[in-house]
Amino acid sequence: MKILFIYESVHHGNTEKIVHAMSGECGGAVLKAREFDPSLLEEYDCLGFGSGIFFGKFHSAVEKAVSLLPTGQRNPVFVFSTSGRGARKYNLQLNRVLEEKGFHLIGDFACKGYDTYGPLKWLGGIAKGCPGEKELKEARIFIRNVMGHRLL
Ligand SMILES: Cc1cc2nc3c(=O)[nH]c(=O)nc-3n(C[C@H](O)[C@H](O)[C@H](O)COP(=O)(O)O)c2cc1C
Repeated sequence: MKILFIYESVHHGNTEKIVHAMSGECGGAVLKAREFDPSLLEEYDCLGFGSGIFFGKFHSAVEKAVSLLPTGQRNPVFVFSTSGRGARKYNLQLNRVLEEKGFHLIGDFACKGYDTYGPLKWLGGIAKGCPGEKELKEARIFIRNVMGHRLL
């Protein structure tokens, strides 16, 4: 399955580490969200969208890329995020938008990412060292499951 990762990683490069782990495992292509063009849908079997979480939301360039997608397509898609809390619930909003457009959501991944926003930096930040080996291993397992999905 030909996979394209569409992402932004602006705070500490946390999401980029996840993208490298996943794309290294599946041989997928990677693209910054601000460079995304919906015509790429024709070139790939599956698209993955991800970034860090900022005030509960994905990076605006990722939201924009998703907003550019047409409705009525059934392509498989997945969502991934890194955040100080590592909460999967942050993915729900993007999951919903993709499903409402008609895409086939085959999974979503979330993990902790080093966070030094605002006063946290005086405390040395939270989720220090993340994503580390544990999270990168989970990311590789996740993408192997994605690859195991049969195309519709
Ligand atoms: C301005 C700002 C707002 C953030 N808001 C949240 C948040 O609402 N929840 C959370 O868990 N982490 C939050 N974080 C932490 C980031 O989501 C986390 O560090 C993420 O891994 C950054 O990914 P990146 O290095 O790929 O950009 C925030 C970080 C910044 C700089």
